[in-house]
Amino acid sequence: MCGIVGYIGKRDAAPLLLEGLQRLEYRGYDSAGVAIAARSGALKTVKAKGRVRDLQARLPKRFAGATGIAHTRWATHGVPSDANAHPHLDEAGKVAVVHNGIIDNAADLRAKLAADGVELASETDTEVLAHLVGRSAATTLEAAVRETLQLVEGTYGIAVLHADFPDRIVVARNGSPVVLGIGEREMFVASDVAALVSHTRQVVTLDDGEMATVKADDYRTYTTEGSRTSPAPETVEWSPESYDLAGHDTYMHKEICEQADAVDRVLRGRIEDRFSTVHLGGLNLDAREARAVRRVKILGCGTSYHAGMIGAQLIEELARVPADAEPASEFRYRNPVVDPDTLYVAVSQSGETYDVLAAVQELKRKGARVLGVVNVVGSAIARETDGGIYVHAGPEVCVVSTKCFTNTVVAFGLLALHLGRIRDLSVADGRRVIEGLRRLPDQIAEMLRGEDAIRTLAKEYAHARSMMFIGRVRGYPVAREAALKLKEVSYIHAEAYPASELKHGPLALIEPEVPTVAIVPDDELLEKNRAALEEIKAREGRILAVAHRRQDKADHTIVVPRSEPELDPILMGIPLQLLAYHTALELGRDIDKPRNLAKSVTVE
Ligand code: F6R
Repeated sequence: MCGIVGYIGKRDAAPLLLEGLQRLEYRGYDSAGVAIAARSGALKTVKAKGRVRDLQARLPKRFAGATGIAHTRWATHGVPSDANAHPHLDEAGKVAVVHNGIIDNAADLRAKLAADGVELASETDTEVLAHLVGRSAATTLEAAVRETLQLVEGTYGIAVLHADFPDRIVVARNGSPVVLGIGEREMFVASDVAALVSHTRQVVTLDDGEMATVKADDYRTYTTEGSRTSPAPETVEWSPESYDLAGHDTYMHKEICEQADAVDRVLRGRIEDRFSTVHLGGLNLDAREARAVRRVKILGCGTSYHAGMIGAQLIEELARVPADAEPASEFRYRNPVVDPDTLYVAVSQSGETYDVLAAVQELKRKGARVLGVVNVVGSAIARETDGGIYVHAGPEVCVVSTKCFTNTVVAFGLLALHLGRIRDLSVADGRRVIEGLRRLPDQIAEMLRGEDAIRTLAKEYAHARSMMFIGRVRGYPVAREAALKLKEVSYIHAEAYPASELKHGPLALIEPEVPTVAIVPDDELLEKNRAALEEIKAREGRILAVAHRRQDKADHTIVVPRSEPELDPILMGIPLQLLAYHTALELGRDIDKPRNLAKSVTVE
C-alpha cells in the first residue's frame, strides 16, 4: 500500500526512481510523483494522477540530478489527484517528503499550520510533515525530522529531501517498512526490496522507531531519540529475475503457474522420513512446549485468513488440538481473552498487514506466544513474532494472492504434522500425509496443464450476474477463497456458503443467472454434497463442480487429482484461481491491479 523509493549516488536519479516505482506499483496505483535535488540543490518535483507511466509521460526532457525520492500512492486521505500525489513540499519548496502510513493527528496539525498562515496545497496527512520539517528551527535535517516526528501520532515510513542538505536523504520508520539498499558508492531507500534488488541485494531493514541518514557512500542509523544503532546488513534471497513476467501476460498468471515449484520450495529440507515427521527450525518451540499447547488460534486477513481456516482444520485433524482462525482485524478490537496455553499464529504474505501486526503486538503485550507464517523474510510480522515458518513462495507481485495462499496452506500442513507427530498422530498417518505432500508439485503441474478447459469454462460463466460458491468442512474455506478471488479480479459478485447452510436461506438466490461452484471431494461428505447439488438443480441453477470425478448433477465438472483427504483443499483451490483469472481476462479487467485495491494493507 503506497511505495517509496529513493536514490543517492553518481547516476541520474530519475530513471532509477521510475524503474523502482514500476516495481512498486502493485502497492498502490492511483498517483505517483518524484522530487530530484538538482546539482545546485534546488528541488524539482513532478506529480501525476494515474499510473507510473502517466508520471513518466509528464517528466521534462531535462530532469537531471543524482539525488531523489519518489512515491506511488494508494489514497487514504484525499482523492487521487496531482495535488494529493507525493512528494509533498513545504511552502518554501525546500523540503520534499514521501510517506507511507497514516498520521492520525493530521487534522489538528493542519489546523495549527493553517492558523499560522500556512497555505496547504493538498488534502493529505503527509503534507504536514513537509511544513513541520521546513518550519523547524533545528540546524540539521536529522534534528528537524526528529522534532517533527515528536509532534506526530500515527504510522509512517518516510523519506525526506532538503534543498539545503542535497548530500543526504533522511528516512524514518514507525509501522511502515523502510529498507536501505547498499550499492557501490550509491545508496537506495525503499519501502520494499522489490524496488532495489536489480541494483543491490545488500539491505538494512529499519526497525520501528529507527531513522537513517543516507549519503552516496555512507549511511548512519539511529533511534528517533538520537542514539546510534547498528543493524547488520542482510542479503536479499529473491533475485531480480523473480520479479519479471517471464513471458506471462500478467503476474497473476505467472504466480498461478509457479505453484508447483513454490510448493516444492516450502517442503524442501523440512521432511524427516526417519520419524515420519517434519523439521521446522524456525519455530522456536521445543517438544515439551509444543505438547503443552491446548489450543491454536490463527489470525490473518483476506486470503491469509482463508489459508488460516484451512490451517486450523489441518491442525485439528492431524494434531487433535482445538484450533480456529479469525480475521486479525476483528480479533484486535474485541478485547480477546489471551490464554497462556494457546499458541497464536499470525499469517501474512507481506508480513506488513497492519491489522495482523497490531494483533501480534497486542498479544505480545499480554504475554502470549505468537508464531508467524509469513512469506517476506525480515518483514515486520516475521520480526515481531517469537518464531515461525517462512512459506518461501517467492515474491508475489499481483495484488491478489495465489501462490502464497497455496504455500501458506502447505506450511500449515507441516505445522499440523509437527504438532501431530509429537502428540498422537501415528507413524503410518504421518507417512501417509508426507507422501501426500510430496505428490503435490506434480499434481499441481498436472492440473495446470488443464488450463485450456478452464479458459472455455470461464467464457461460459463470465457473464453471470452473481455466483455462489459452496463447500462443506474442508471445502468451505476453498469456496470462500475462490469467491474472493473471483470478486477481486472480475468484479462479479460472489457469495460463499457452507453447502449445509444452503437451505437456511441462500437457496432463495438460485436461478439460471446465478450459477454455483461446488467443491465436491470424494470424502465422507460426498453424499451430503450431492444432495446440495440436487437442491440447486431442482431450482434450475447451473452448477460447476470441482471434484475427484464427474458429477452427474453438475453442468460441468473440473476433475482434480486425488490427494490425501486432509490435503484436498490445496488442490481444489488451484483450478478456481485459473477460473477467476480467465473470467477477468474475458471481461477485460486490470488483472494485476484491480480497482480500489493495493497489496500490503499497512493502514487500518
Ligand atoms: C486477496 C489478498 C488479500 C490479502 C490480505 C492480507 O487476494 O491478497 O486479501 O490476503 O490483504 O495480506 P497479507 O497476507 O499480506 O497479510
